[in-house]
Parts: sequence; structure tokens; C-alpha cells
Amino acid sequence: MHITDIIIKKRDGGKLNKSEIEYVTKEYTAGNIPDYQISALLMAICLKGMDEEETENLTFAIRDSGETVDLSPIDGVKIDKHSTGGVGDKTTLIVAPLVASLGIKVAKMSGRGLGHTGGTVDKLESIKGFRTSLSKEEFFAAVNSAGLAVSGQSGNLAPADKKLYALRDVTGTVENHSLIVSSIMGKKLASGADGIVLDVKVGSGSFNKTPEDAEKLAKAMVKIGGAAGKKTAALLTDMDVPLGKAIGNALEVKEALEVLHGGGDSTLAELCTELAAVMLHLGDKGSIDECRNMAKDALASGKAFKSFVNMVKAQGGDAECIYNPDLLPTASFVYPVKAEKTGYITVSDAKEYGRASLILGAGRERKEDGVDHAAGIIMEKRRGDKVQAGEVIAYLHTNRENAIAEAARVVLSATEIGDEAPKTAPVVRGLIL
Ligand code: URA
Repeated sequence: MHITDIIIKKRDGGKLNKSEIEYVTKEYTAGNIPDYQISALLMAICLKGMDEEETENLTFAIRDSGETVDLSPIDGVKIDKHSTGGVGDKTTLIVAPLVASLGIKVAKMSGRGLGHTGGTVDKLESIKGFRTSLSKEEFFAAVNSAGLAVSGQSGNLAPADKKLYALRDVTGTVENHSLIVSSIMGKKLASGADGIVLDVKVGSGSFNKTPEDAEKLAKAMVKIGGAAGKKTAALLTDMDVPLGKAIGNALEVKEALEVLHGGGDSTLAELCTELAAVMLHLGDKGSIDECRNMAKDALASGKAFKSFVNMVKAQGGDAECIYNPDLLPTASFVYPVKAEKTGYITVSDAKEYGRASLILGAGRERKEDGVDHAAGIIMEKRRGDKVQAGEVIAYLHTNRENAIAEAARVVLSATEIGDEAPKTAPVVRGLIL
């Protein structure tokens, strides 16, 4: 088989067969095909597309490109969740302990993530002492004792995706349906859970700009999950506006704790309750309605909070920071951004709020960069809220004094104020089972 023939076949609109897809994935992972040839193939895929069968074959080839985790040393049903990513998305911090408190095991391997804020692992590392580099034995022991654990992604999980994603990122080939499906599902299927709930975002802060794109992506991922023998479901959820009020690592941990205490932002709590309900349902705990009620009770009763504390202790974190969130990292500068006129907020652009938090130091631009756990934004007002001129719409938290002016400008231009209240849509737009 020759890579050049495969590139030409796809360039001319042909369909790649299973052995061609497996050959490319295996040889590229092994370092036997250079980046420039795979770049050409990725671009041909973007321009000519892949059909369902090609997408499924690529997904399975990515899954099989490295280790596939065997979670059988963990007792009970294991359900994973994945979000396609968005601004202020701290749902894992809430949903994982919530379902664990109701008897579902969550063995979560999570990334650090590029962009506006860190990934789940970065957020948890704002808790003093919290360890995310666990050996396999430590990881399994933590899930068995606490019901859940969150670990940084293992070095050899879906290595083809690591190489392909890095190349896509710099060759303008991220935004392709088949490449996104195979990248997300290849990793998820390698991580060994019995079931997967996908939170597929739609809106400015997501790579799905239209509901149609999000639905197509969700349906394809649910179908592939089923074909791989995993119970899979997807929620379509809003990402036009950041999720919750907090953006930034320690700020998001604090907000997650509020929800785990039965309070907090109502949109965030609603989304977490729905995600948990679907996870519990896939874990055979009852109908979605029954599971939703169980989830609400576990938040209100403090059961889910206890489960979070157990995870923190099992992973070496200082539980004092959880009982007293003021001990989490705080920024040297907290700057108020004020509304320039009176009216209703009609747009709180998630993507731009994300950019502002990156400027403040909450995220990373290159994978080798660190994150500032204390940095980020607290949104006091969001789309749908009424504001008076001079009222605070957001607080910027940062240790970079010289970043404040630019971040404030970005927040102001991301916040549109009009005379009429905008129509608001529910955070959950659909469920695909
Ligand atoms: N997230 C992934 O893991 N892969 C993609 O291709 C896009 C988002």
C-alpha cells in the first residue's frame, strides 16, 4: 500500500477502505509516514468528506492505535461523560461526584486542554495537593474507594489522535465532521467505560455554530458508540453564553462547590442534573425522570458534595480547601467592568469571554504553557439580565496587571446591550438516545 495512492484516491473523491484507513493510522502513529503527507490527506478529507463507514473505520483505528483501558478491576457499572468543550464548562466537577454518590463509577481520564481556561485536570489542580498523575493501580484504587477519580490522560491512549489533532490544529483541518467524530469517539472508546454521555455544545463558544451541525455530530457519535457495543447518549446544549457565572480554574471549582451544596447558578445546576440523569439512566438506575429526581435529591441532601470530598481526599488534595473555598488560589487584582448604558443584555458572547479569560492568564495558548489557577472572570450579568449604566457586569481576576485593560475591552465588546429583553432558550436543546 502507498500513502500517495491513498491521498490521490481521496483527493479525487474516492472512498477509503478499512485496510487503507488502518494502514494510514498505524503507520502515521509509528512515525513511518511524514506529517506533510498526512496534512495533504487531512485536507483532502476536509474537501471531499468521508461517509459513515469510513468515519466508523477511522474511529476504530484511532481507538486501536494504542492501549485500550480495561476497567474490569473496578467493580460496578462505569459511565463516562465527554463535553465537546466550551467556556465555563465545569460540569465534570459536579456530575462525576453526583452520579458516583448514586452508585455509578466514574473513571475519568481528562485532558488539560488548550484555550480559554484549563481542562478539568487544571481546574482540579487548583486544589492544593490534588494529584492527577496517577498510576493505573492508584487510579483503580481511587475509583473503588471514592466511587470516582479524575486522572490526566494516559500517555498511550489513542496516540493516533494526539498526533492527528496536533497536525489538524496547524493545518486548518479541525472543522470536519468525520475527523471530529473519530477524534472524540476514538479516545472515548479507548477509555473503557460501559457507557458514554456526550455533551454536544452549540453556539459561539463551541465549534458547532449551528444546531444542525451539533445534531449531526451527536447522532453520528451515538451511532458509533452503539456500534462499538457501548451504551451512548448525547445532550445538545447551549454554548452561546458561558456556562454559569465563573470562567477560570479556581473560580470554577468554587462555583461547582456551590452547586454541590444544592445552590449555585440555576442554568449550571439544570445542565448538570440532566447530564447526571442520562448517565444514571444508562447505568440502569431507572427512567430519565426517576434519575433526574435522584440527582436533584443528591445535590440538595449534600450526598454529591460528600462524594466530591471523598475524591479530593483519595487523590491527595487538601479537603480544607473544599470546606472553605476561600483557601483556593486568589488573584492579586480584581477589576470591575461596568455597563456603558442602561438596557437588557442581548449578547454575552461565549467565545469572546473565553478570549478575555485567556488574556487574564486562565488558559494556555501552547500546550507547554502553564495556567494561572486564580485567573478568570466572574460574570455578574448575562444575556437576558437588565443593567443600569455604571453597574458591574463582570469582575476580572488576574495576577497580570497589564492585561486588565485589554481584557476589559474584550468583555465590553462581547456584551451587547439593547432596549428589549432577548428571547432566552433552555440550556438543554435536545437528547439523542
Ligand atoms: N475535540 C476533540 O477531541 N477532537 C476534535 O476533533 C474536536 C474536539
